Amino acid sequence: MAINKVMVIGAGQMGAGIAQVFAQSGFDVLLNDMNKEALEKGMKNIEKLLTRAVDKERISESDKTETLNRLTPSSDLQDAQSRDFVIEAIVENMDVKTKVFSDLDKIAPKHAILATNTSSLPITEIAAATNRPEQVIGMHFMNPVPVMKLVEIIRGLQTSDETYQVVEDMTNKLSKSPVEVNDSPGFAANRILMPMINEAIFSLHEGVASVEDIDTVMKLGMNHPMGPLTLADFIGLDTCLYIMEVLYEGFGDSKYRPCPLLRKYVKAGWLGKKSGRGFYQY
Ligand code: NAI
Repeated sequence: MAINKVMVIGAGQMGAGIAQVFAQSGFDVLLNDMNKEALEKGMKNIEKLLTRAVDKERISESDKTETLNRLTPSSDLQDAQSRDFVIEAIVENMDVKTKVFSDLDKIAPKHAILATNTSSLPITEIAAATNRPEQVIGMHFMNPVPVMKLVEIIRGLQTSDETYQVVEDMTNKLSKSPVEVNDSPGFAANRILMPMINEAIFSLHEGVASVEDIDTVMKLGMNHPMGPLTLADFIGLDTCLYIMEVLYEGFGDSKYRPCPLLRKYVKAGWLGKKSGRGFYQY
């Protein structure tokens, strides 16, 4: 199946990045958000990033113009009726996501594939909100989308091989590297990353080493580009806690117990870079 017409739902941090990458790769893209301000901001952010790429001579002025010409803002979910592929990047909340998928199922053409960029919610459950679970799949981009190469493609219980293949081919067209993952709490990326971050927080909590030294251990000792506590601040400590809770509940195993210090920081409103304070001050 050839996919040309794409719709991205949610014009926030992830959705705008996803829309940009699709448009840069030649797809006709609708960027949808129910909040007009968020939609405007998402479109402006894309233009800003493309202008920066022109300034740095990574793309030409005409690449930028053509990309923007392939991008159209949308504030009506009904616009999905003209699309071959829809990817959702709205708030990480199962009730809100299943409502959107149930609506999309009624609006989008029969052949359309419906994907979600969820970082932790079960694909199988989201797919069950539709009458086409074999055409529902997880397509998990990393932040910031235009920079990060990885896409986890997550099969729900009922996702068909054909749907998987179409999405894998499309990921290659976006110049990203796909990995195939089964529907399991945290998928692969967050199942590996978050316990490491949680353990770094436990090490701080138990006085093993200071914030700076924990980060230095992983940067200089393991060649990580960024220490785990810095990374946690960038991701957002509330998000880290949320994903740890998904792992803890999903596996029922105490090895995923969120560190009490992480809970305390989130309760204090120390959410990392976005709130001005996390393990570091910004
Ligand atoms: P965000 O809060 O920046 O953006 C969400 C956008 O969705 C907002 O603009 C909001 O107005 C819009 N929205 C909410 N409900 C809507 C609806 N019913 N219809 C249309 N638009 C709606 O969130 P962010 O960070 O972009 O995350 C989006 C999704 O991507 C979440 O599922 C998250 O778990 C996932 N994700 C986030 C990553 C991150 O680092 N922030 C990384 C990978 C996945």
